Amino acid sequence: VINKKPLIQLLLITFAFGCAQTEHERSLSLTWEEKAGGVWRCEIGTEEEFDLLDAAGVQPKFDALQKKPAVNFPLDKSLINATWLNGKLYLRFPLDDDEQIYGLGLQFKDVNRRGKVYQLHVDHYGGKDNGRTHAPAPFYVSSKGYGVLINSARYITVYVGTTVRIDSPNQPEVRDRNTDKNWTSRPKSDAVEILVPAQGAEVLVFGGESPLDAVSRYNLYCGGGSLPPKWGLGFTYRTHRLHSDRDVIAEVKAFDENQFPLDFIGLEPGWQSASYPCTYEWDSGRFPQPEKFVQELLQMNVRTNLWLNPYVSPKASLYEKLLPFAGSHSVWTGIVPDYSISEAQRIFMQHFEKHQLDIGVSGVKIDEADGYDHWLWPDVATFPSAVDAEQLRQTYGLILQRMFAESYRKRNIRTFGLTRASNAGAAHLPFVIYNDSYSHEDFITALVNSSFNGILWTPEVRSSETGEEWLRRMQSVCFSPMAMINAWASGTRPWSFPEVYDAVKAVANLRMRLLPYIYSTFAEYHFRGTPPIRAIALIENFDQSEVVEQNNLDDTKNPYEEAVRKDIKDQFMLGDNLLVAPMFSGQKSRKVILPSGKWFDFYTGNFVGEREIIEVSPGIEKIPLFVRDGGIIPMIPSRLHTPKNGEILPLEIRHYGKSPGKFLLYDDDGETYDYESGAHSWTELTVVSTPEGDLRGEVKRLDNNIYNYGKAEWVFRTEAER
Ligand code: GAL
Repeated sequence: VINKKPLIQLLLITFAFGCAQTEHERSLSLTWEEKAGGVWRCEIGTEEEFDLLDAAGVQPKFDALQKKPAVNFPLDKSLINATWLNGKLYLRFPLDDDEQIYGLGLQFKDVNRRGKVYQLHVDHYGGKDNGRTHAPAPFYVSSKGYGVLINSARYITVYVGTTVRIDSPNQPEVRDRNTDKNWTSRPKSDAVEILVPAQGAEVLVFGGESPLDAVSRYNLYCGGGSLPPKWGLGFTYRTHRLHSDRDVIAEVKAFDENQFPLDFIGLEPGWQSASYPCTYEWDSGRFPQPEKFVQELLQMNVRTNLWLNPYVSPKASLYEKLLPFAGSHSVWTGIVPDYSISEAQRIFMQHFEKHQLDIGVSGVKIDEADGYDHWLWPDVATFPSAVDAEQLRQTYGLILQRMFAESYRKRNIRTFGLTRASNAGAAHLPFVIYNDSYSHEDFITALVNSSFNGILWTPEVRSSETGEEWLRRMQSVCFSPMAMINAWASGTRPWSFPEVYDAVKAVANLRMRLLPYIYSTFAEYHFRGTPPIRAIALIENFDQSEVVEQNNLDDTKNPYEEAVRKDIKDQFMLGDNLLVAPMFSGQKSRKVILPSGKWFDFYTGNFVGEREIIEVSPGIEKIPLFVRDGGIIPMIPSRLHTPKNGEILPLEIRHYGKSPGKFLLYDDDGETYDYESGAHSWTELTVVSTPEGDLRGEVKRLDNNIYNYGKAEWVFRTEAER
């Protein structure tokens, strides 16, 4: 007897790809609806009630999206397929031969996703870019200028150009490895294939004029990037975990004595009467008068941030109240409240507001909502809501961020904190991701990757083997969303390595001086969706051919002759104008890829190159920084605390290169949400060429709203060159 089944299946597949109809496989029809300017939505199969964007509390910025230039649906719709496959959703999106893919969350090793497979799963990063990470956002960006989001809180598998279907009209060439130099273990693939272990999902496609435009639309759709309070962009120090109130005050005084900037201080687990599991109650021995302590710090212009994790101790006064909402499994002997239930949120936040927020605490560090599997709740855990263990794992960090953010918002106070777990939809949430791994190189790659996904990352500094390493790490962290030392275990201080202290202080001062530039950059994130940190692939007109490929066969490192695409993973843009190229301990020099256009040294104003790879050896005192031609950088005088509203500061406005330029300087009160209802200002800083061929700077207020700047001095840094 001939088994006809495989034959029939093959016929079905070859007859019409995407129209397969068997008991295991059914093709689904897709209808794309434009939800907002350049954002299309499609409900595929039976959508689940609980998803990432809901968990994150996303409210799209429709107005800002509508103002963007109209774009067409970016893909050939007939090449997008959805199939119901054995109870799961199988999606297929087309991929061109020369197209590159970025994103898919906070990865640490490389930037280009093509040719790789990811199972997106919230977890503590375990040393491999396999999709298990703190923020495994199922959102990817194409070099062709569009993005795709699978809005599902499931462990999604994404095959990024690794798969070849035999019914694809676009087959790779058959090559003989014996004789053909161009043989590769990854023959050309024409698709991104995605498996969503659910009956359906919402899928969103973001169009754009460039990859940056697509990312901006994604961020706007996610509510616009968070705008930190000004103090959030100053320096922060996390104290030793068992410090008492007096120890913390002494640390703050030492910052002052050493003239080192400090805007907020973090208390680690020891502020609580017990931790792991947590009580969320002040320890009466170490912190007998919490309110007095927090207020004393505020008098010194320093805010307080409190560490916590979500696992509630049986010793906590909250325990009995939260018990009815607990999941089936404990973590570190604490209960895991099901915070997808609003009543559980309310109970917890009522406690936090009364005992922490309302006595003046400015923010939190939400730790360990990401896991490591061996201590987190398992996938077999059950929770009182209909949300299952997998969905809660993917969203717990989002939900917690949202709970705290909303409490502060209700009081019209901005917060800025830390989280170790996040996901897609987090752009509007005022939290920065960090972790326990410590490779400086990986930390910078994470910074680069954060830019594709609407998340913020800090390459925090904890300890170092040498002064050189300490300095190199401090230089990097000062050009990240949160300039932080986390001394929870080491007790290190900025001056722990006296031999490099002057240089450490210089870079922290530079961070403070750059506040108008950095704050305006974050305002662009909020109002226009452009991320503050940008991978080089997000630079407008970045040319893929600037990226070299290697293809060297060897019997250990590369037995399958992989075509290795050179990733630009150790340099990034901060805002529109500043290119940052961190150096790592032991490095005497490094290569810097300069994209199209002329580039100038930040410190000297000298021309350094144009669309080329340069080698720089700046010595250990400096982190290599470059400014694009016509780049304008507004700065304030160096200071120990970020300015308060009403404190008027002079501006030094730097211009680099020989071309005219424009920069939009943003300002508001720096601490409330009033900017959302118009209490903010934009000021145009413009450099024009005069008929004599000189450059002239102009400051033009575009409105009469809050503006905390006085006299403006223009500094043309590239003068000598002209
Ligand atoms: C870790 C966290 C550290 C520190 C520590 C305190 O898990 O990543 O930054 O907060 O907990 O126990």
